[in-house]
Amino acid sequence: MTEFVRACSVADIADGKPFRVDIGDVPIVMVKDKHGTYALYDECTHAAVALSEGDVDHGSIECWLHGSRFDLATGKPKSLPATQPVQVFPTRIDGDDVFVALGEITA
Ligand code: FES
Repeated sequence: MTEFVRACSVADIADGKPFRVDIGDVPIVMVKDKHGTYALYDECTHAAVALSEGDVDHGSIECWLHGSRFDLATGKPKSLPATQPVQVFPTRIDGDDVFVALGEITA
């Protein structure tokens, strides 16, 4: 069974603004939009920079360095130069807190 761990408060994540949290030594970028709350591994698969420093728009997060966009729900790249998906983790909201199920880290 996948264990959910507390990542942050609901209030920590502003709509459309990436929010970086570290769960243990795992960097996570939290994003909230009108469709839900997402947790992705906070590292671009192209050149390993933090996605949390990028912009969120239309259901994706854009890497600030070369502009690849990753789908928030699936982690799949929607544009080059990245070709590999970013790992996405299940999220759950319980009261004022957001929980993330890290499971196995594949990054
Ligand atoms: S480092 Fe992210 S697209 Fe190049």
